[in-house]
Amino acid sequence: MRLLVSTIAALTCLAAPASAQFRPDPVRQARTEKDYQATLQRLGIQVMRVGADGFNKSSPNYVNYDEAKAGNPKLPPLITIARPNARWWRSSRRPELIRLLEDEMYGRVPSNAPSLRWSKVEEGPRQKFGFATLSRKYRGMVPGSALAVDLSLTLPANAKGRVPVILEFGFPEGFRFPGPARPEPANPWQAQILRRGWGYAVLVPNTVQPDDGAGLSEGIIGITAGGRPRALHDWGALRAWAWGASQAYNLFSADPRIDSRRVAIEGLSRYGKAAAVTMAFDQRFSLGFIGSSGAGGAKILRRNFGERVENLTASGEYHWFAPAFLKYGGPLETGDLPFDAHSLLAMAAPRPIFVGAGMIKEDGWVDPRGSFIAAREASAAYRLLGRPGLVGSTPPAINETRAAGTIAFRQHDGGHTNEPNWPAFLDFAARVWGR
Ligand code: GCU
Repeated sequence: MRLLVSTIAALTCLAAPASAQFRPDPVRQARTEKDYQATLQRLGIQVMRVGADGFNKSSPNYVNYDEAKAGNPKLPPLITIARPNARWWRSSRRPELIRLLEDEMYGRVPSNAPSLRWSKVEEGPRQKFGFATLSRKYRGMVPGSALAVDLSLTLPANAKGRVPVILEFGFPEGFRFPGPARPEPANPWQAQILRRGWGYAVLVPNTVQPDDGAGLSEGIIGITAGGRPRALHDWGALRAWAWGASQAYNLFSADPRIDSRRVAIEGLSRYGKAAAVTMAFDQRFSLGFIGSSGAGGAKILRRNFGERVENLTASGEYHWFAPAFLKYGGPLETGDLPFDAHSLLAMAAPRPIFVGAGMIKEDGWVDPRGSFIAAREASAAYRLLGRPGLVGSTPPAINETRAAGTIAFRQHDGGHTNEPNWPAFLDFAARVWGR
């Protein structure tokens, strides 16, 4: 729970509202600042640019929400040869981009990363959301360390045959944000999944890797670093969370009740970024729901709209990435990145993904249009592999699901939440999974 609280505390020091009711822990903040400065020093960086300010309208750095000022950046091409084909993509271009995404942004999983040992800590038939389920709680451990990864799995009771599972990056069961109680959704996503006869699981990312710079000496990154500071291309929290999802997949693939060819990954916001990273690096996941993922996820970084690279490379968020990424917020420019968000999404090809966001008014920070553009531009890789990618070149209307292709896009009429997009995502899942 301490990790969780510190994570939530970290949300408060970011540039735009995520969840502002939490008081940051000053001790962890001081440790974060120290690690941040030490990282800059190791990289030889003296000056970092300032990110977009999501709060103060009179700030010269106030965030841009004006489409006319977003720019129309030229994107690094996915296809770099004159006569590309699927084989070239698979054996040459994809590995090349994967390496660049690792080295310059998300970091590599160290070769000494252990496997998690999952143990069942609770099991039983349970009534959930009006459905009879078989529920399990697991703890993922690394012998000799204090790591205790929290994973829960809920499958419909009386299923005939193996069932698909949707894995969410989320919060532990029963968790409530402090402050006034939020109204329960009328049709919770879990109920929607169970109604289809499918299962769901929740992995608590912060139990894999704490969500602040102070946590880089803890969690799985701390374990593999063994007391040393992170090297230039070492993983950040997003890659570590994605690694946690891969560890959960290992468990699912050994479970005869689960259809391991139909396991999806879903997340919102920073966890939406982690879902995109999971889809990119672990090809066993057959479907992704990437919700309001914004900068570092589906948003084109070269667009000046909403959050910017300079926010990602500041002390509140740098821990999501490899140390090498910091240079793009200082000595290098965003335009120096050898890829953009379309390249990240293209790593999922030809597997289906659903990219979602809310309205500009409430979810502008994530740049919904920039996410649409990334989805559209990623489609070149899908087409090369014989799939349509995203159909259409202009965004669909609000609340209209564009799901005819292998990449679906939907901008719902609410804010920073996946909730209104769940029904459309599950329809998409049913189609692409052939159910
Ligand atoms: C902040 C941050 C985003 C992130 C979001 C969240 O707004 O700037 O990058 O996605 O928090 O995870 O809630």
